[in-house]
Amino acid sequence: MSVIDLAIHPKAAGLQKGRAFPIVIVGHVDHGKSTLVGRLLHDTDSLPAGKLEQLKAVSEKRGLDFEWSFLLDALQVERDQGITVDTTQIWFTTQRRRYVIIDAPGHKEFLKNMVTGAAQADAAILVVDAAQGLAEQTRRHAYLLQLLGIRQVAVAINKIDLIGHDRDRFQAVAEAVRNYLADIGIEAAALVPVSARTGDNIAAHSPQTAWYRGPTLIGALDAFTPRALPVEQPLRLPIQDLYRLDDRRVVVGRIESGRLKVGERIRFAPLGREAVVASLESWRGNAAHHQPREEAIAGDSVAFTLDEDVFIERGVLASHPDQAPREASRIAVRLFWLDKAPLKPGERLTLKLGTTEREVQIEAITEALDVESLSSADAAQIERNGVARAILRSRRPLALDTYDALPRTGRGVLIRGPQIAGGLVVEEVLQQAAHAVVAVDSSVTAQDRAAVNGHRGGVLWLTGLSGAGKSTLAMAAQAALFARGRQVVVLDGDNLRQGLNRDLGFSDADRAENIRRIAEVAKLMADAGLIVLVSAISPLQRQRDAARAIIGPDFHEVFVRADLATCEARDPKGLYKRARAGEIAGFTGISAPYEAPQAAQLTLDTTQRALSDSVETLVDYALRGLAA
Ligand code: ADX
Repeated sequence: MSVIDLAIHPKAAGLQKGRAFPIVIVGHVDHGKSTLVGRLLHDTDSLPAGKLEQLKAVSEKRGLDFEWSFLLDALQVERDQGITVDTTQIWFTTQRRRYVIIDAPGHKEFLKNMVTGAAQADAAILVVDAAQGLAEQTRRHAYLLQLLGIRQVAVAINKIDLIGHDRDRFQAVAEAVRNYLADIGIEAAALVPVSARTGDNIAAHSPQTAWYRGPTLIGALDAFTPRALPVEQPLRLPIQDLYRLDDRRVVVGRIESGRLKVGERIRFAPLGREAVVASLESWRGNAAHHQPREEAIAGDSVAFTLDEDVFIERGVLASHPDQAPREASRIAVRLFWLDKAPLKPGERLTLKLGTTEREVQIEAITEALDVESLSSADAAQIERNGVARAILRSRRPLALDTYDALPRTGRGVLIRGPQIAGGLVVEEVLQQAAHAVVAVDSSVTAQDRAAVNGHRGGVLWLTGLSGAGKSTLAMAAQAALFARGRQVVVLDGDNLRQGLNRDLGFSDADRAENIRRIAEVAKLMADAGLIVLVSAISPLQRQRDAARAIIGPDFHEVFVRADLATCEARDPKGLYKRARAGEIAGFTGISAPYEAPQAAQLTLDTTQRALSDSVETLVDYALRGLAA
């Protein structure tokens, strides 16, 4: 048999009119993914006439029982021989529409393709063995679907023939799968008892499962809705290349979202240059089509010229000026780790976003998730196939979007050495990039300093009403920590207001600036290895959140709690009296608000407890929390 003969002509199918509905088939190894693909092709009449018989004859000649998965293997051989050059895609057609399976199950690059966005599915079939139930990869793949925003999921509870079409067993497995999916935020569209081998409930309802009232697997697929092409979203056009073609400078790239028209002004991030699109044409491979067009949309590869010769380079991201991407130097991401060697905080890797590559540092792994139990795991390092939340820092600005806002420019790939080592989606921009500034790396690292000092640097941020005891506590804790050999310093709001913050008053804006400066100074000192005790009223949660964003994971919010009556009775500086007399405007607690922290890392109640207790608690916290 020639493998070429067996080809399902994927390319030809792909060139049929209309966009095929992309799906992905996931599930644990041996739960029947390949068999299901073979069956889907057959039961939808998507195989060329005679091919199945041909393959069956070959199996027989070789003394093998025919297996549906042979079909996929044959396609795999064809791929390996490089006959279908650039695709691992398989097409089939139902009465409703054409589908493309965007990656072959069992393909060794499968996870990588999913994570890197090489494969973008609108829906998924999760295959689960009816006898074995949820297994490790079932959970991992399901989590990946969630991570990548694939919310339309049909579950094929497979090998139903092997459990004698038993309704109770089916329901038990279906229930477990439904619950796991619900826990990660996926509502299963259907849980179908199927046998890929015998065809039960694939295209037609099986008489063997008369008790089943739901859709067939194909019925479930046909009920899904295609994801809208991101044409109506803001324009994002990562620049791939710049060419000189007969004296014109041509800029080339693929539109990821939105639309681009001749005559529009566009902006290039993160450089910030702007120019007007002078001409636009399609771009295929390596040649412009010299067919001027007025407009191009998401999915189009384009070549265009600008009215001005502004400086741009490969990797910049074009948008409309009023809907520009974010420019970040610190981001929070969810990531999926693929490399054999685990990922550890502090490591430097290359982040590939669209067409740009930037060196980033893993500043912190803030949460590791055990996919099995969905509980937090030890975040000291992320093992292969692990998922985590992390904070990444880049010295040069990154032009991107959050995944929620614009998925196509909100995801990236981490590269270690020559290899793709992980995929990520951007959850949050923690710090905007400052323009035209490239930070310099320190020649002494935080780890070096911790090794010498015996502890890490960090910030304990004491917030509370005036008179709550912040300064007293900070000073006492400083003395105790210093006596135990700790490098420690106090930054006191009142003291800083004599110098650095002399120009600031007590309006909301001034307090916000006061806190920003204190946070920046505290960060410098913490980076220098010090334990920094900040004592500042910092009355609003958003001000403290801003300080946390500046300082990062070693920001510890400490609520120094005392009720207003107690503070007023103490009135160490006589300010409450003056505020009551109307001599001080906007006094916190009297004529300006104080928002108590909702989720402080530590609360010290100075009304209820002796001060010495609070000092001890604070010192203990610092010793433990900032241990080397
Ligand atoms: S913050 O609100 O910006 O964090 P910060 O801690 O620096 O305040 O300064 C508060 C100190 O300034 C108080 O301890 C008090 O001595 C003094 N102060 C003067 N005016 C005010 C005011 N209107 N509200 C609060 N504190 C004031």
